[in-house]
Amino acid sequence: MCGIIGYVGETDAIDVLLDGLSELEYRGYDSAGVALTTETVHVRKSEGKLEALKAQLSDAKLRGPTTGIGHTRWSTHGPPSDANAHPHTDEAGRVAVVHNGIIENYQSLRDELTSADVAFESDTDTEVIPHLIASFLEAGDDPETAFRRTIGRLEGSYAIAAVFEGRDEIYAARHESPLVLGVGDGGYYLASDVPAFLEYTDRAVYVEDGELVRLENDELVVTDESGTVVEKSVETVDWDAEDTGKSGYDHYMLKEIYEQPTALRQCLRGRVDELAGEITLEELEDIGDVSRVQFVACGTSYHAALYGAELCRSHGVHASTQIASEFAADRMPLDAETLVVGVTQSGETADTLRALREAASAGANTLVVTNTVGSSATRVCDHVLYIRAGPEIGVAATKTFASQQIALTLLAGKLSDGLSYDDIESLRDVPDLVQTVLDTSKAREIAEEILGSDAYLFIGRGLAYPVALEGALKFKEITYEHAEGFAAGELKHGPLALVTDRTPVFAVVTGNDELAQKTISNIKEVEARDAPVVLVTDGQSGADRYADYVLEIPVADELSAAVVANVQLQLISYWVANLMGRSIDKPRNLAKSVTVE
Ligand code: AGP
Repeated sequence: MCGIIGYVGETDAIDVLLDGLSELEYRGYDSAGVALTTETVHVRKSEGKLEALKAQLSDAKLRGPTTGIGHTRWSTHGPPSDANAHPHTDEAGRVAVVHNGIIENYQSLRDELTSADVAFESDTDTEVIPHLIASFLEAGDDPETAFRRTIGRLEGSYAIAAVFEGRDEIYAARHESPLVLGVGDGGYYLASDVPAFLEYTDRAVYVEDGELVRLENDELVVTDESGTVVEKSVETVDWDAEDTGKSGYDHYMLKEIYEQPTALRQCLRGRVDELAGEITLEELEDIGDVSRVQFVACGTSYHAALYGAELCRSHGVHASTQIASEFAADRMPLDAETLVVGVTQSGETADTLRALREAASAGANTLVVTNTVGSSATRVCDHVLYIRAGPEIGVAATKTFASQQIALTLLAGKLSDGLSYDDIESLRDVPDLVQTVLDTSKAREIAEEILGSDAYLFIGRGLAYPVALEGALKFKEITYEHAEGFAAGELKHGPLALVTDRTPVFAVVTGNDELAQKTISNIKEVEARDAPVVLVTDGQSGADRYADYVLEIPVADELSAAVVANVQLQLISYWVANLMGRSIDKPRNLAKSVTVE
């Protein structure tokens, strides 16, 4: 998804912008560009990776300017190309603009500008912005007024930053797209995401919808829609730059898989009170009466939501889950006792945000379970539960999924009378159990054995069902191989037709209850069709005897087992993708934060 960086300060802006753009790469992009301003505005942009942009930056004119903006673009309107890359300028090149989001009324604005003889150079929705600003400048407005009037004409979602010729200033605004400011010593930063400037400062100011920002090297001014100055608080971000580096791992994904014991400890810290014998979620003390829980989420977070809903239901709480893009508040009963829970690690997923906004407008109580402090979802919702996983840079979600599982278990405990402190207490062992898997996993060896198969199937029941779905999603995301997840009992209703001796089946079987025995019956069905069976198990059910390969997990109770089992599936995906030489941290066609519907 598009990323924005801006800097106004005392040192060469180009270096700060390039550092920021590198940090934003994880969001996914297909072109990049920068604009630096002195007496004139210098724009350089290029289709492709940052290296292609860097090849254009040897020009001496780009050294010296201390004000600039940069952008990584993920195409929405018009294909990836030099012309469609940001920044975009007006015809005279006096103003340059970068934008993240979608301008929904761009076509009518473009028609209006074209009929006033404005010539467009790109297919993007963004290009209307600099042309509109220029039209107001020509009418005699100063830059701030021209920028404000332009913002007033836009519909849709956006984070926008603009620089003008001859002015060491950046103007910026947002509506439903992320924008955060960094407060440094001798300069200010602006970005879609904190890691873009974390190397320079950990002091952040979160911009709200409707606010307008003016940054100079010694002044940060935020005003509301009427132009009144808004006092903003500066928050210290408790991530350090080391947290966002690879720390010796080949990929962020592997690093983040190995960070899970720490992430889970952070998620649990202070929330399972041994002395008091209770779950303490201070954030949710005023959650109110909840008669029904409706989860909304996308992708991996949707699988976590399925997991949370299953836990709620199995402990007496009415709960269901919907893919956020399918959610419509007018097609379901919602009232003040319905808790609509958005699960989103980024807090910026457009589909989830829309669902939460609709739910809030319909009068529901709203909660977001997220990793990102100050994200848009935290401002939309009545309540926030942080999963505290730390920064996740790999596009494929790993530690945030595990942390979501734990946070949602705590939530289920909070909402349910059936899930007691005694049940949940055992979660404190999860970090150590995950560490055991990380230390002993045979995933790499098994990946070598199954590589080159026709397709990869994943099955599970109960809490292991969302884990099977997540295992398949992770596998397809980073290996680009065909992978599907199923409820184990559904195999015989269709998917069994896919099963051959060239389709390994990953089966998650933990404990030794009725569900485990039923899954063993399903394993026998695929075994009878010669499919290689890869079992993720703690060995309690005796399913091992039907397996070709075993990914062992330590014996754990029901609440911990599905979290631990998932780690083996993450490792299998990682090692298959690694052996295939895939772009693991930035898989093709994917973005870390999907800010369009
Ligand atoms: C996860 O590996 C994916 N990249 C994707 O499915 C992701 O989970 C989804 O886009 C939702 O993101 P969110 O958690 O930030 O809302």
